[in-house]
Formats: sequence, structure tokens, C-alpha cells
Amino acid sequence: MKKLAILCALALSLSGCSAAPSKKTYSIGVAVYDGSDTFISSICDTLSSEAEKDGIHVSITDAGRSQLNENDQVNDLIDDGADILCINLVDRSATSTIINAAMDKNIPVIFFNREPVQSDLTRWEKLYYVGADAEESGRLQGQIAANWLATHPEADRNQDGIIQYYILEGEPGHQDTIIRSETAVSTLDEAGISLEKAGYAICDWQRDEAYDKTSQLIKDGTYIELLLCNNDEMAAGAVQAYDDAGISMDMRPAIAGIDGTKEGISLVNSGKIIGTVYNNYKDQAEKIYQLADALMNNKSLQDLNLQDGHSYYSSYQKITPDNVSSFLGQ
Ligand code: GAL
Repeated sequence: MKKLAILCALALSLSGCSAAPSKKTYSIGVAVYDGSDTFISSICDTLSSEAEKDGIHVSITDAGRSQLNENDQVNDLIDDGADILCINLVDRSATSTIINAAMDKNIPVIFFNREPVQSDLTRWEKLYYVGADAEESGRLQGQIAANWLATHPEADRNQDGIIQYYILEGEPGHQDTIIRSETAVSTLDEAGISLEKAGYAICDWQRDEAYDKTSQLIKDGTYIELLLCNNDEMAAGAVQAYDDAGISMDMRPAIAGIDGTKEGISLVNSGKIIGTVYNNYKDQAEKIYQLADALMNNKSLQDLNLQDGHSYYSSYQKITPDNVSSFLGQ
């Protein structure tokens, strides 16, 4: 790792003459909670390619969902010469080891996607957060479902005037899990839809867990008319379970996702899910890079639209059959 960092630094300093002369060469250390997470990989790929264009080196570590691993990996990134850290926490309440290590070496930290609590974020002036507003995503998912139910009376398959709904949730404790679930349901409620909760299952953002859980629900004969999924990966796992069980579209619940991954968009396009909510990974990755670049080059943060000078929340967008064509090819 160390050798690699030295080689990269050497390569950068040799090619330095072709880079923009006013820019400082620096190294970005990125630590992610799980490198196999589809949405997080999209952020990392965009961040790396943006940085590469400027000849900036990015090292990415994968904690495999262990905060202890991530703490060690952050120490390695610091030892290997990271000038700025971009941290996607495993446990968003366990920031102290990483913040202490960064403060000790005076290295700014941009947390992303997994939001630290406010009291941790205000511990030091060089701590930042880039993410998206969980409440907005839940509200938009709720609106998609409410609109679908209003225009598709057949979705109330037993015609009892009540929508039996089930939620496939992300990891417990994650801001997006708690807030998306609550807000999607309260939005449906406010739209005047009579609801009955058929249950919920924690599926950790993962397609396979959602597949297994949904297959079990099908086997058990759990009656569901609306399946709200905290992300598209889990929605895709649920769709797969219904497909594999040979259940026709008119006998399945309406399924909604969040993220607008390539697969999520294609499931909206094929009519397998009623909609998803675009979680703008490009905007978030670009903001992380612009912020890193500004901090490393002592530029003003004025134009970055940060809330309280430290946090950025990207906007979500609804994706439904009406506008999905404009998202194809994203
Ligand atoms: C959410 C995203 C999920 C998952 C999670 C990881 O914002 O919707 O798909 O990537 O972050 O923290």
C-alpha cells in the first residue's frame, strides 16, 4: 500500500508539469462501509474519475461492514499519506476513533451518505457531510405510491378499501432506513389512503436478503398489496422472488424503490415496479470532489451551497412510467 502511494505520488510529480499549474497535488483517502453496495460504488466511481481528470490520486478501502476494519483502514490511509479523508461510516454513531485520528494529523474529513449525528459533526471545523435528505426520498416514494393507488383501483386486490402494505428496510440505525419508512407511510396517510401494516423486514439494503425474505412471504401466503422498499436493490430482489414463484403481475403487490440505479430505472421502464426515487450519486460525488478540491487549494466554500457551512444535501427526483424515458441511459 505504502509503495503504491509513493509510486503514485512520484508519477504525479513527474507528470505535474502537464497539470494545471495553480493546483496542488494531493491524495484522497476514501473508506467505504461495503464496496459491493451498488449505490456507494457509483459514488466512488464518479469521484475517482473526476479526480483522475485532475491527476489527483484516490485510494479506496472497503470495510466489509465492520467499523473496526474501517478504523484500521483509515489509519492505513493516513499512514500512506492521505491529505483528505472521505468517509462512508459503517456505524454512523461511531465516529470518535476516525475524528480523533484526523484531528491529530490535521486532516479534513468529508463524511458521506451515512450521516454522523450533529454533535459529532460540530466537534471540529474541518468536518463536513455530503448526502441527501432522507425525508425527501420517503416523501417522494409515498407520493409515487399514493398516485399509483389513486389511478389503479385494481391495486386494492381484495377491494376492502384498505391497502395492506409491507416494508423491506435497509440497515437498522441508518438515517435513510428510519426516515424513509416513516415518511413514505405518513405521506400515503396524508393523501387519504387507508393503510394496514402487513409487516416489515430488515434486509440491509441487500438484494439477496430481500429475495429470501420475499420468497418466504410468498410461501407463507402473507397478503400484501403494496411493497415499499428502502432501496432499488431490495426492490429488485423482491421482483426476482415474484418472477421465480411464477406470480402474475395482477396478483403481485405494487412495488416501489429508491435510488434510481440502472436496474431500478429499467424495472420502472418494464413496469415491474411502479416507480423509484433518483438518489443523485453524480451530484453527491461531484460535491465531495469540489469540496475536497476547495479545501486542499484553500479556495472559498461560498459557491458550494453548504448548510451551516458544513453539510450538503442533494435533491431527489421521482422516476415513474411518465418520465422514465429521460432517465434511461443514465
Ligand atoms: C442509501 C442508499 C442505499 C445504500 C445506503 C448505504 O442512501 O439508498 O442503496 O447504498 O445508502 O448507506
